[in-house]
Amino acid sequence: MTLGICCDHAGFDYKQRLIAYLEEKKYQIKDFGTYSSESMDYPDVAHPLAEAVESGEVEKGIAMCGTGNGMVMTLNKHQGIRAGLAWNEEIGKLVKQHNDANVLVLPARFIPFDMVCRITDVWLDSEFEGGRHQRRIDKIPIK
Ligand code: RB5
Repeated sequence: MTLGICCDHAGFDYKQRLIAYLEEKKYQIKDFGTYSSESMDYPDVAHPLAEAVESGEVEKGIAMCGTGNGMVMTLNKHQGIRAGLAWNEEIGKLVKQHNDANVLVLPARFIPFDMVCRITDVWLDSEFEGGRHQRRIDKIPIK
């Protein structure tokens, strides 16, 4: 599976470490930046990641900024994106099972790195449950 990943300066250290963690697990990673801890604007990387998920260039995405909120707000402007913010494993599981999140967003300044890995693992390994949740996500896009 090819995953796209992006971060702003607040998520840069965790992004580097998460890429290494996921490559060890044999995921293909496309890194959309940012590429240093220099201050930058999260939409500059969130929009290209969203477009790559929408086009199928990558199957899913992972995004990190300080709180996660800037990334979620930006990513969810794209009609094909369901970006979900998760800060523990239970939410990481539910954001796939109930919301079929195709981008996982993590609040880098508020969770330890081992939690980033555990949430990512459970999100990747969980399955969308469909049924009533499919009906609900079908109602999300603005026609
Ligand atoms: C950067 O200081 C911070 O504002 C950003 O990482 C993020 O939390 C925005 O939502």
